[in-house]
Amino acid sequence: MPTRKTKPSNGVRSRTRPLRSAPACNAAIGIFDSGIGGLTVAHAVMETLPRETIIYLGDTARYPYGTKSAETVRRYSIENAEFLADKQIKMLVVACNTSAAVALDALRERFNIPVVGVIEPGAQAAVTATRNRKVGVIATDGTIASGAYTRALKQLDPKLEIYTRACPLFVPLAEEGWVDNDVARSTASSYLTSLKRSGIDTLVLGCTHYPLLANVIAEVMGPNVKLVDSAKTTAAAVRETLLHEGLARRSGSGSVSFFVTDVPDRFVKAGGHFMGQRVESAVRIER
Ligand code: DGL
Repeated sequence: MPTRKTKPSNGVRSRTRPLRSAPACNAAIGIFDSGIGGLTVAHAVMETLPRETIIYLGDTARYPYGTKSAETVRRYSIENAEFLADKQIKMLVVACNTSAAVALDALRERFNIPVVGVIEPGAQAAVTATRNRKVGVIATDGTIASGAYTRALKQLDPKLEIYTRACPLFVPLAEEGWVDNDVARSTASSYLTSLKRSGIDTLVLGCTHYPLLANVIAEVMGPNVKLVDSAKTTAAAVRETLLHEGLARRSGSGSVSFFVTDVPDRFVKAGGHFMGQRVESAVRIER
């Protein structure tokens, strides 16, 4: 199944549909992230679609993306997608919020397979959840600066009031496993107190790492604020797209293989926190 367009289109999402033959359905779903964070999405996809084969690429050598320029993240994202496209994937999942915020259009232009990002499903879930139409979004600097969540939310409901906040320190805290201690609590309180005062009733966790800190975030925000975890909503969107495109695997049991761009030790060690199950091994690729 050819997955890379020979000529870029004019920016409109590709209408070219892949073949729906058995080999097409049996092809893998490619997922990439800047590192281990996207494992929260991979895990949700595996739970939702247990028959699917998943190829996951963590660009650990160039992590983090959240503090880099949009141009650089776009370039890295295209390179990650090219690696996965060479594995004849049937669908691409951009599990990194920062990549989805700045590179989704470029990826959809370049590859003629369905491309699902984490932002549209997260925005959709927030719109469904909110009652008072006041929605908060927390994410990396890059995602917040891109305005991608605000655009996606406004497109769904122009009357929403949207409050955004970059929470960059949540990423290293989650990587370190410091998700339920005084440091995590005081960081959450510094970042989120003003957001709480805005009266939002829904908060989008717009970064792969933030679901790990959901408990301390919920403590600060209080019981009346619903947290939207984009990993779960993205998995639901992946399922919907596969069914819509006739690309869901009809039999067999699923599997996952991991690729990384730096030595795999840290990815394998810390991956379990994000996956909710052990990451047995990962193959290093050259960059
Ligand atoms: N995966 C990134 C995201 O969801 C967070 C980590 C990073 O900055 O690379 O935005």
